Amino acid sequence: MRLAAVVWCLGCCGQVWRRACSHVRTRPYGPSPLSRLYYLDEHVRRVIERQCSSQRRRHEKWGQLGLFDRDQYRHLSGPRPRRETAGLVVDEDMLFSRAVHLHSAAKAAYARRYADIVGVAMGSKWQLWWIELFAGPGQLYVRETGEFVPGSPLEAMSIRRPFDGYVFADLSEPCAESLRRRVGHDPRASVLCGDANGACVLDAIAALVPRHALVVLYGDQEGLDLRFETVKFFIDRYPHLDLLLNLPTSGVVRAIAAGYDVKASAMLDHDRPRELIADSDAKGASVREWYHRKLAAEGFDKIEGVTINLRGRQRELYDLLLASRHPLAAKFFHSAVDLRDARWEAAG
Ligand SMILES: C[S@@+](CC[C@H](N)C(=O)[O-])C[C@H]1O[C@@H](n2cnc3c(N)ncnc32)[C@H](O)[C@@H]1O
Repeated sequence: MRLAAVVWCLGCCGQVWRRACSHVRTRPYGPSPLSRLYYLDEHVRRVIERQCSSQRRRHEKWGQLGLFDRDQYRHLSGPRPRRETAGLVVDEDMLFSRAVHLHSAAKAAYARRYADIVGVAMGSKWQLWWIELFAGPGQLYVRETGEFVPGSPLEAMSIRRPFDGYVFADLSEPCAESLRRRVGHDPRASVLCGDANGACVLDAIAALVPRHALVVLYGDQEGLDLRFETVKFFIDRYPHLDLLLNLPTSGVVRAIAAGYDVKASAMLDHDRPRELIADSDAKGASVREWYHRKLAAEGFDKIEGVTINLRGRQRELYDLLLASRHPLAAKFFHSAVDLRDARWEAAG
């Protein structure tokens, strides 16, 4: 009997220990929080090799290549567009950049301007933290212009009066590791690799960001990846929080039309999201109204937004919205989007 109790007890301890270890393994520090290791240089090397071998087939005169010898790869920065692998391109730093259209670069610039205004206005009174859940690799490749420009994390860090801390998270290892190489030297920045809606990332953020800081949560989701319960986690945890969110109005409409009701339901916290798009004339507007009502019900009733349209057309893509409990935040956002930026005029 006593032996059975000891065995049972050892079993329990083992389980607790295993659970603790798996948590440590999945902690987002080191090369990757995931259980398998990720080697960015190897990945970049494989992408370049693939590109080179397809170019080699086209240009038979091509000789022996030395990997990571930039001169040998000068041809890669030649004719555009660059070759994309899952929406990413290899840049001159041998890191990944995200291939985007102009409006995405404009969005990153809006985020910077908002951060800049908050930093200058509030930095002397508050401890400021920037949390970015869908951070990307830190650099964008604009397809229309063939230019590399800073992604939102670098934009948010390059402001006049930087925040006291920055936490970035991305699910993709190439993105998280490229970003870590770009900002990891800065002691204010932490980069996590994992699902923005997952307990691991949320726990790590909660451990890093003080509760009473003034926090800006930037959620530039891809698809419908930001669950409302994740937004609620931040609302409940941080009393001084501004939400700067990409609200994909047309994405929601498209997703529901394609049968992804479950995904839309989690993002909107709506049991029957299909009902929102029943009126064919105002689908995007009713998605927007629902989301604003959800935020207002949480006390986030100071809401401002800009609608980003497809370039040169009147087709709505998504809203960049600011929601806060404090009226000043809405005022700051107004100033941020009112400032014109010649670089992205064409995108608006
Ligand atoms: C629109 S991009 C962000 C671009 C970034 N804001 C910028 O300006 O550079 C969205 C990012 O979300 C990441 N992502 C997609 N699903 C995710 C998830 N569930 N959790 C965390 N990141 C995710 C993708 O890997 C991608 O890098």
